[in-house]
Amino acid sequence: MPKISPTEAKPGMILASPIRRAKDGLVLLQENIQLNPLFIQKIRTLNLESIWVQNYQNVDNEDTLQSIKSETRIYADSILRTTFHQLKDNQNIETERIRDLVNKILDYILGDSYVVINIHKINSYDNYTFSHSVHVCVLSLLIGSFMDLGRNDLEILGIGALLHDIGKIFIDFQLLNKPGKLNAHEYEQMKIHTQTGYETLKKRARMSFLIPHMALQHHEREDGSGYPRSLTSKRIHPFAKIIAVADVFDAMTSARVYQKPVSPSAAIQEICEDTPLKYNQDVVCSLKQIITPYSRGSVLVLSNRQTVEVLSISRYQCLIRVIAGLNEGEIYNLFQKPEISVVRMVC
Ligand SMILES: [Fe+2]
Repeated sequence: MPKISPTEAKPGMILASPIRRAKDGLVLLQENIQLNPLFIQKIRTLNLESIWVQNYQNVDNEDTLQSIKSETRIYADSILRTTFHQLKDNQNIETERIRDLVNKILDYILGDSYVVINIHKINSYDNYTFSHSVHVCVLSLLIGSFMDLGRNDLEILGIGALLHDIGKIFIDFQLLNKPGKLNAHEYEQMKIHTQTGYETLKKRARMSFLIPHMALQHHEREDGSGYPRSLTSKRIHPFAKIIAVADVFDAMTSARVYQKPVSPSAAIQEICEDTPLKYNQDVVCSLKQIITPYSRGSVLVLSNRQTVEVLSISRYQCLIRVIAGLNEGEIYNLFQKPEISVVRMVC
C-alpha cells in the first residue's frame, strides 16, 4: 500500500486510510473513496506530509494511453544511437531497422484515435538530440495523419522526421550546447547541418530521395527567410513544412542548456503569430488539434464561468463535466463549443 505526497495524488486513486483534520481528528475523507480533482485540491490545502492510497501503479499506467509507450522510446533511442555511430564511422545506415521503428510508432498512432500529445513533463536537455528526433517524428506523424496522408507517405515522413537533424552529429558538442546566443560565425556553422545531413543521407542511406530533402529543407520558411537556400513556399516540400513546425514546437517546449522551455499553449501562440508568414497554415491548424495542454482529470475554468473536470480527451472530443457554475453535473464535448474558451487550468 503506497504512501505518497499529496502533490502526487491523481484522480482515480483510492484512499487506503481516512484523511483527518489535524486539530480534532475529524474524518474529512473516508478510506476507499476515489479521489477526484476537487478532493485532491482540498487535500493539498491541508498541509499533510503524506497520504495512503491503494492503487498508485494502476493510475500511473492509465496515463500511458496518452503518450507513446516507453518501450518504443527506448527502442527508438537505441536505434538512433546506432545510426549516429554508423554515420560517424562512415558506415551505411541500417534502413530496415529505422523503417521498422517508424512503422511501430505509426501502428500505435493509427491504431488509437485517443492518442494525443500531452506535454506536461518538460523534456530534459540530457539526450536532447535523441529525444528531440523521436518527438519530432511522433509529432510529424500525428500532424500527417491528421492531414489524411496515406500510410506510405507517413512512413517516408516519419523516417525523414527521425533523421532530420542528422547533420548535427558533425557539429562540435560545445557549439551545439553553447549557453547564450550564437555569434554570426557560430550561427553559420550551425546552419551547415542541413546541408551535411542531406549529403550524408544521400550517400549513406538507401531510402526515398525525399528523405535527404527533408533534412535539407526543414529550416526553410514560407516567406523565404529560412536556410540554407531561402526557398519560398512553392519550392518547399510539404513534408519539410510539417517537420519544420514539429521541430520548432518541440524545441520551444524543451529545456535546453541555453533556454527555458515555454508552455505548449505559449509555443502554439508564438507559432500562430508567425503563420502564414513562416509556417504553413494547414500544418499549424493540425498541430493545434493534436496538442492538448490539459489531460483527463484536469480542472478548467471556462469563459462561461463554469468550472469543469475533463473526463476524457482525444483528437476528436474533450468530454467535460460541470463541477461548479451553471448547469452543475452537465456533461458535454468542449470541442463542439468553439464559443467557449479555457480561461485557466486549476490543476
Ligand atoms: Fe535542424
